[in-house]
Amino acid sequence: MKSQFLLDPAITFLNHGSFGACPKPIFEEYQRLQLEFENEPVYFFLNKSREYLKIARERLSKYVGCESVDLFFTPNPTFAINTIMRSLDLKEGDEILTTNHEYGAMDRIWNFYCKKSGAKYIRQNISLPVVSKEQILEEFWRGYTSKTKIIFLNHISSCTALIFPVKEICDKARELGLITIIDGAHVPGQIDLDITKLNPDFYTGTLHKWMLAPKGSSFLYVKKSFQDMLDPLIVGWGYESVSPGESQFLDYQEFQGTRDTSVFLCTPKVIGFLEENNWKEKAKECRKMVFDNYQRFCDLLHTQPICPITEEFLGQMASIPIKTSNPVELKNLLFEKYKIEIPVMPLNGNYFLRYSINTYNSQDDLDILFKTLQEIIITTDLIILEE
Ligand SMILES: Cc1ncc(COP(=O)(O)O)c(C=O)c1O
Repeated sequence: MKSQFLLDPAITFLNHGSFGACPKPIFEEYQRLQLEFENEPVYFFLNKSREYLKIARERLSKYVGCESVDLFFTPNPTFAINTIMRSLDLKEGDEILTTNHEYGAMDRIWNFYCKKSGAKYIRQNISLPVVSKEQILEEFWRGYTSKTKIIFLNHISSCTALIFPVKEICDKARELGLITIIDGAHVPGQIDLDITKLNPDFYTGTLHKWMLAPKGSSFLYVKKSFQDMLDPLIVGWGYESVSPGESQFLDYQEFQGTRDTSVFLCTPKVIGFLEENNWKEKAKECRKMVFDNYQRFCDLLHTQPICPITEEFLGQMASIPIKTSNPVELKNLLFEKYKIEIPVMPLNGNYFLRYSINTYNSQDDLDILFKTLQEIIITTDLIILEE
């Protein structure tokens, strides 16, 4: 599939996870829509844009398993979680329960909120290696108290690339009367997603990572019972709308002033591309490549896998624990000298080398990484091997 993508062929690209990568046919549709907009900006923005957005929402909602009136497009999950955060009304001492595997920008949103409100952000330790789902659940719920009001949880973590038991946590949270906010940035297009089945109160995901959309396409699902409490992050024409649409919720959230919505409008093409190219089958082959290589990289670096190597915990990424004397220098060396794009990620005082596999990768890419790490071990002191 490599020729279908816009990626520089000189780079061994093992970091789909950070910002995705877009195939040419999808990018062309994105640019076609931008041209359509510029050909008649007034007609496009006032007449076409709303109709196209509705079609895009309908297509996306079927793909992620919810009703089309229960989600709206956002540029990214940071925007989505900020929208929720700005509408909450926690009291001093109330608690938001989370894990110590969450994405840095999300931690910052909640730290900001807690500083303003006096609420507490409880980052429950999920220890590594993870040995079972039961272990995650047990460690997570140990953080629950009578003050807990909200559960915030990543569905697939960024640094550790682990799949979390979101369904079990949402089920129990509902029994306890807690609000559930799920960060599924890495989920759509990587593993199956059925929001209705998971039954969270809020769920954000991206299209520009594993669904292959151009950059800046994400969504926020909001359960009907929470739609009225959600203020728009950007107040505009949708407030006290003179031309109401499908609901007040969508009017509030979709009107954000003049902006280029082409990235959202190409969603039907994005999903069409995934379906035409049998993406579910291809993703399965990618996962196999992830699984088949994980142990040998851990052996090379004298570390251990951070979870059982199964579909319960891993998708198209795996994080190899690495001991390094200088993570920034190691990352730069991998890119500048060896032309390998791969992140060296810090979390809770440890470092992880995270590889992502997509359809444009082959075993050769991982073999190049393996040989390069062998050379770096011999020629530098950047990687520390412990006995
Ligand atoms: C777990 C997780 N959440 C959220 C995000 C989204 O971040 P942003 O809003 O900066 O695109 C990412 C991006 O990599 C992520 O890995």
